[in-house]
Amino acid sequence: MPRTIAALLALCLSAVVARAEPIVIRFSHVAAPQAHKSKAAQRFKELAERKTEGRVRIELYPNSQLYKDKEELEALQLGAVEMLAPSLSKFGPLGLTEFEAFDIPYVFKSYAELAAVTEGPIGAELLARLESKGIKGLAYWNNGFKILSANRPLVAPDDVLGLKMRIQSSRVIEEQMAAIGALPQVLAFSEAYQALSSGVVDGTENPPANMLTQKMYEVQSYATLTFHGFLGYAVIANKRFWDGLPADVRAALEEAIRETTPYANGEALRENSEALGEIRMLGTTVFHEPTEAERAAWIAAFGGVEDIVAPRVGRELIERIHAATAAAARAAESSSP
Ligand code: LMR
Repeated sequence: MPRTIAALLALCLSAVVARAEPIVIRFSHVAAPQAHKSKAAQRFKELAERKTEGRVRIELYPNSQLYKDKEELEALQLGAVEMLAPSLSKFGPLGLTEFEAFDIPYVFKSYAELAAVTEGPIGAELLARLESKGIKGLAYWNNGFKILSANRPLVAPDDVLGLKMRIQSSRVIEEQMAAIGALPQVLAFSEAYQALSSGVVDGTENPPANMLTQKMYEVQSYATLTFHGFLGYAVIANKRFWDGLPADVRAALEEAIRETTPYANGEALRENSEALGEIRMLGTTVFHEPTEAERAAWIAAFGGVEDIVAPRVGRELIERIHAATAAAARAAESSSP
């Protein structure tokens, strides 16, 4: 073989050897493929693969196709998947009950108040607490504020009396439902539609975007725009896996997440406001917008929940959240014309 061809072959071979297999990150979640969480995961994948120049490959598994709510957290801890974005309401069963502070009704009255927590020291401290469970907390991604739905009008809190309501695995949401005389039933997100359609449960709560992407409007004829609670996510990774990544790869992935977060939150906001209009157009669900007096009645009905859950969530944490949200509200007020 001529010397030049042999040299060329050797060069190609070394290039192949140098091009090691990419690090695969399996990113599992429960939202529908068209939901904003999926779009954000896709954006993260593109950024991560580009920034690591192909040294990382992100595989996305939406729609509970690999694991349902509880199983996915176990799978992450065992290393069967590397990344997730579960809702903050799902950490309680792991013993991280402080995350249920996010579920206290009306604890955030605006996105500015929410950001004061998720983007401030309290948010960072909470993510750090995940480490004791072998989980690396990377970011918060918003969904939105929840509305109550059922197959009967829910104008006043008493209208929920006796209804079986599907909830996430949060004791705070359980107390919230109990406060209005409902019978809370914890069910995986992937089981909610079926449970509503077969009458296993009568109603539920969701941000409008989830109601749309899970087609819950097909099985819920009434919804009230209470916006009583927040639903958001923590983007998390298996800590041992994350810490074991080459430092430059880890830095590139963290940069990709930082750049994805504003996009994720923007899409969530847009989709939640558009979802109401889209469901209205479909004509299956009647939305009720509470009057000022009706809103006050919902706030009063949920008013006792915070005291009941304080021992579980942590009184000090709740007080710090109130201080942060009050400061954000004052800042918003002083900057408005
Ligand atoms: C739910 O279970 O209702 C939500 O956490 C689902 C989701 O991820 O938006």
